[in-house]
Amino acid sequence: MDIKKVFHMIGGIGETSYAANSSLQKGAIDMVKHITTESIVELYLATAPQNLVIADLGCSSGPNTLSVIGEIIDAIDRARLKFMVTSRRTEIQVFLNDLPSNDFNSVFLAWPSFFKEKLSKCNGRNDFERSPVPPPFVSIAGVPGSFYGRLFPTDSLHFIHSSFSLHWLSRVPVTLYDEDGKSMNKGKIYISESSPHLVSEAYLIQFQEDFSLFLRSRSLSSNPEEEWCSSCWEGLVHIILRVLMLYYGSFSPVPLGDIDEEKLNSFDTHFYAPSQEEIEEEVRKEGSFAIDRLEVFEMRRDIQNGSSTYGTTVATTVRAIQESMIRHHFGEHIVNDLFEIYGRLIDEEMTKGEIRPIASIVAMRKRL
Ligand SMILES: C[S@@+](CC[C@H](N)C(=O)[O-])C[C@H]1O[C@@H](n2cnc3c(N)ncnc32)[C@H](O)[C@@H]1O
Repeated sequence: MDIKKVFHMIGGIGETSYAANSSLQKGAIDMVKHITTESIVELYLATAPQNLVIADLGCSSGPNTLSVIGEIIDAIDRARLKFMVTSRRTEIQVFLNDLPSNDFNSVFLAWPSFFKEKLSKCNGRNDFERSPVPPPFVSIAGVPGSFYGRLFPTDSLHFIHSSFSLHWLSRVPVTLYDEDGKSMNKGKIYISESSPHLVSEAYLIQFQEDFSLFLRSRSLSSNPEEEWCSSCWEGLVHIILRVLMLYYGSFSPVPLGDIDEEKLNSFDTHFYAPSQEEIEEEVRKEGSFAIDRLEVFEMRRDIQNGSSTYGTTVATTVRAIQESMIRHHFGEHIVNDLFEIYGRLIDEEMTKGEIRPIASIVAMRKRL
């Protein structure tokens, strides 16, 4: 399967869209937003560029994309008001990146009213046109393509942000399959307790290959003195996929149409949640960046996407992310039932107190 063509979040603003089902991620982004804003303000004060160029990698579509940009605009504007960094109007250029199949249209449609609203409230000032300190001028542009490779010209970025995206690998590890194309992780869709040891090794090797390519590509496009990078990894899907796999693996009595065993055996996810040590090791080996902060935190479980339980919230969140892949592989007919059952299974697991979703944030600075 060509992941770049098939994998996409559900676009638009409908009931099953990523826009309507990404509040768990928003909750985690908010928990660590002080790290993102402190990083960008420190960079801004140290360098005071008239034109600050930032990129959000794996931006998707929906409120999270613009809210991160909004926080950055606010933080820069606050710092400029407080420290009178420059008398010139600050300009911020934002590049929004995702795979070409992302629903960029929804983001661009939402942008004018979002920006107008932002300006009308920006840091307590409400008449910008007459204000002696004008608000930042912000321009956005889309950059379709994989972040596992070059996306930007040399030395063109000051700050890179990425949330809930880097755990998506560029592909399912090829070493999972034997010469006949059969998966050695038969009956499972990710690393599980009963997977052969070679499975976790294959995923780790793929992560190392991808992440070092990611770092190398970013180091080329970022300005040598001014680079920060802040990213989120999550463990949430890891846990959820284990539940999903349990469901698949046990051939639950709940019917899901005619899924044959062959289809189950050949579905593997292109996901990896690295440990703190694995992230540190790769950053050290690749050598372009130094880690300023690396923190692991537990995500909130009291958020609901308008759903009745945490289980359904998780299920609708994962559906918005995974539906394209599941539909492509198994067919559309299983999707509704699968995610309904899945939500129930998560609620059952929750009563045992076993699900503790975690995420990590890392802030890195380019080495001189
Ligand atoms: C779960 S969404 C996260 C969206 C948003 N950043 C947030 O925090 O809510 C993950 C996004 O990463 C994108 N993505 C995954 N692999 C990618 C790649 N290799 N290059 C660019 N974007 C990628 C997906 O298409 C998807 O839109």
